[in-house]
Amino acid sequence: MTASNPVKLKPGDTIGILGGGQLGRMLAMAAGRLGLRCQVFSPDPDSPAFDVVQNATCAEYADVEALELFAGDVDVVTYEFENVPAATAMTLAARRPVLPNHKILETTQDRLAEKDFVTGLGIATARYADVSSVASLRAGAAAIGLPAVLKTRRFGYDGKGQAIIREGDDPAAVWADLETRSAILEGFVPFEREISVIAARGADGTVECFDVTENKHGDHILRVSHAPAAIPESLAAQARDIATRIATALNYIGVLAVEMFVVPGRDGPTLMVNEIAPRVHNSGHWTLDGASVSQFEQHIRAIAGWPLAKAIRHGQVTMTNLIGDDVLGYETWLTVPGATVHLYGKAVARPGRKMGHVTEVKPD
Ligand SMILES: Nc1ncnc2c1ncn2[C@@H]1O[C@H](COP(=O)(O)OP(=O)(O)O)[C@@H](O)[C@H]1O
Ligand SMILES: [Mg+2]
Repeated sequence: MTASNPVKLKPGDTIGILGGGQLGRMLAMAAGRLGLRCQVFSPDPDSPAFDVVQNATCAEYADVEALELFAGDVDVVTYEFENVPAATAMTLAARRPVLPNHKILETTQDRLAEKDFVTGLGIATARYADVSSVASLRAGAAAIGLPAVLKTRRFGYDGKGQAIIREGDDPAAVWADLETRSAILEGFVPFEREISVIAARGADGTVECFDVTENKHGDHILRVSHAPAAIPESLAAQARDIATRIATALNYIGVLAVEMFVVPGRDGPTLMVNEIAPRVHNSGHWTLDGASVSQFEQHIRAIAGWPLAKAIRHGQVTMTNLIGDDVLGYETWLTVPGATVHLYGKAVARPGRKMGHVTEVKPD
């Protein structure tokens, strides 16, 4: 895409989605409501997103021929996960606009590059150090202090690829257990709560943020989100400003999520950015039922070159994830007054697997 040739879809046009999980599924459903078609590309024949689109490509991300055919079938390409291989994105970008721009992935696929980018904007993060050996782990721990969190630079999610290192732990053992050659050590942040901002940036540079969400994790997996977060409006405004600056600096088109820690301080709480997700995000699922527009529709509008909506929240919203066996309770949830149930159509409820979610909205 060039500035002189921006994407401008019409109803009936086709969006290509890389990745076939629940995020791709909910993107395709939002696109459908706007009269847009989607074609999903995923190597997994059991992809939940395949069930809601007419056209799917089941192939490996390295399958150049399949990628070329897919590109030929679609008008614009987007993705529902951040670990799109660089070669895949480049093959597609040579043929069709890829939005958000795939160069963003170089920053967001690598925790070190991402932290350098965020701190480069003058935005606070946990203290961090580049770690590539036991020696650099020891040096990082000495500089940052313990406890600290050691994370693989790439491919971590839901707390995978992370270890806490405490006073008295053997750095050599912690390093060996992580089974990586490139990691980042972060100071342990004694946060009072975790929040996220879901922001959409349109092709014209307009940014629309949803109300700040508060997130509760268990076993490193998001369990419950509340909107709005129980924080002062001045702090919420700072959080939205941070997300807006990040989206603008990335020249981003689409929806992104910025996870932040609220850190207590003598002069009141402050914010630290934890991570950026260059995609729709679990902590934004509440917008499907709790706001006048969902994060999925905002993403579709942005990549279609359509105006973003001004999101109006409908009340106090709670989103509860159905993880693993939680989903077995779906029939009970179906009877809860006011609850809206979303099931992703996954056949096997493996422990830790996101199977669905429930939204409840109470008047403000
Ligand atoms: N530096 C840190 N200090 C304290 N807690 C952390 C820190 N980094 C991560 N965590 C906790 O672990 C969770 C998962 O870490 P995160 O970096 O978001 O990785 P991912 O979501 O990719 O698994 C966070 O939501 C937070 O609860
Ligand atoms: Mg996270």
